[in-house]
Amino acid sequence: MRQVLSHKNWKILHTTETDSTQDLLRNWISQQSNPDKTLVVSLNQNTGRGRHKRQWESPAGNLSFSFALTLAPNDLKDAAQWNLLFGLALKQSLQSLLQKEFQLKWPNDVLYQNKKVAGLLSEYLPEQNTLLVGVGLNLNSSPEDFSPALQESITTVRHIAERGFCPFMVTARFLNHLSPLLSAPVSPEQLSQEFCWQNQEVILSDDIGPCFSGQFLGINDQGSLILNQNGHISYHQAGDLNLRKS
Ligand code: BTN
Repeated sequence: MRQVLSHKNWKILHTTETDSTQDLLRNWISQQSNPDKTLVVSLNQNTGRGRHKRQWESPAGNLSFSFALTLAPNDLKDAAQWNLLFGLALKQSLQSLLQKEFQLKWPNDVLYQNKKVAGLLSEYLPEQNTLLVGVGLNLNSSPEDFSPALQESITTVRHIAERGFCPFMVTARFLNHLSPLLSAPVSPEQLSQEFCWQNQEVILSDDIGPCFSGQFLGINDQGSLILNQNGHISYHQAGDLNLRKS
């Protein structure tokens, strides 16, 4: 692995192939005294991990990167909120790149016309008090490159824009959007407004299957999803959100 550039106080490392940038960076930072703002990008990822221990498909051309952010002593309580900011930065960077409207789906998927184009995985390393955040972006692949089970629910930047993009330029653009959000985070109320499907009927699922349904009312200041279940307001820290088909 070698450092290819530094950008806005970030050290950017590059490898052509890895099993998972998340695991590569975790190993790398275990040997570093100051892992803060280190990012590793790989153009090929063989066994990427998604949320809820799912497999993450990264066909050739997709962008996979992971970055480390060391928290200040009192920042852990804000980590859930931070995780939502990472998704917001990703959405903003895609909107500025393509000049098209993308959606942020709680907790941190980015969609285009209700199809997933990117996902984030955030893990906390207590020994280093560091967040390890992995970003998978369907960049220069085509929907047909994914397994048949996924083809209907995902899309790719190349498919949307009808052209490819330099993965390093896209990574730098993400950092351009992340930096101001980290130094001046948006208020919880503003952040809540960024999420798609406000006031719509949704279903929340866990690893077993659907478990709650109701009207999506945004997120609270702990980053939890707010559901209105026939007048009963409930809060949820994790799960997969889908629109309820009428
Ligand atoms: C999700 O389930 O939506 C999150 C997917 C996160 C995938 C990224 S790709 C880079 C990093 N390395 C991994 O193994 N996973 C994350």
